[in-house]
Amino acid sequence: MTDQLKQELLAVALEAARRTGALLRDGRPADLGVAATKTSPIDVVTEMDVAAEKLITDFLAERRPDDGVLGEEGANTAGSSGVRWVIDPIDGTVNYLYGLPSWAVSIAAELDGETIVGVVEAPMRAETYHAVAGGGAFRNGERTRVRPTPPFEQALVGTGFGYLTERRAAQAEVLRALLPRVRDIRRGGSAAIDLCDVACGRLDAYYERGLNPWDLAAGELIAREAGALTGGRPGAPADGNLTLAAVPGLFEPLQRRLEELGAWHD
Ligand code: IPD
Ligand code: CA
Repeated sequence: MTDQLKQELLAVALEAARRTGALLRDGRPADLGVAATKTSPIDVVTEMDVAAEKLITDFLAERRPDDGVLGEEGANTAGSSGVRWVIDPIDGTVNYLYGLPSWAVSIAAELDGETIVGVVEAPMRAETYHAVAGGGAFRNGERTRVRPTPPFEQALVGTGFGYLTERRAAQAEVLRALLPRVRDIRRGGSAAIDLCDVACGRLDAYYERGLNPWDLAAGELIAREAGALTGGRPGAPADGNLTLAAVPGLFEPLQRRLEELGAWHD
């Protein structure tokens, strides 16, 4: 894999994210409503999710016609180049719907299944995060790093909840056990931003069960390149069962605790 390819994919991802972020920030209708629901009545799609995914897929079709694409709003093409884009046009759709600022465009590029480029564009923070595998993590072009390791009981831990009632009930039980044992919990509403917050030292750790590939692909690479450890259940990669990112020294005890608490099942 050449550095040239990584740099080319990064440039495409940055430009797609910039254009999409501007569309979403400047084009959000004042009366934005729910266009459809997905896995449950609170798992919503707006017209802007659909428009944003179309902008990204049209852009990629023009610049990288032989690549595959997987997108939250239905894009799914195989491609022939070995590169696949994994995109979430709005991560944090409920925040976007309500006019809260924590939402992002998440764009990752995989080569033969391995994430090599990640971009998270957070327009209401005026922040762009990016990473290339092996090249470090950046916020607005400046190198960014995780915080120093805190004692477990002083960790600020981000998390999120799924859209299904049973899953949320199980997630609440895990939280009930964890909350008294750490500094505090944050629920920001965008997994991509949570992972970038670990990367730039605004969280010590983040975990969530039930993420989809588009929620985590870019943010996980950014967190890892900033010095975080990432994974899932012990010995497993970050996936839908469990995604965990934490500063070194906190990762292993938190992973062990989450395993004991059954954070990987409903
Ligand atoms: C959601 C957000 C949220 C997380 C959910 C995701 P969406 O993505 O990342 O923080 O808790 O699990 O589904 O639906 O806003 O794209
Ligand atoms: Ca998402």
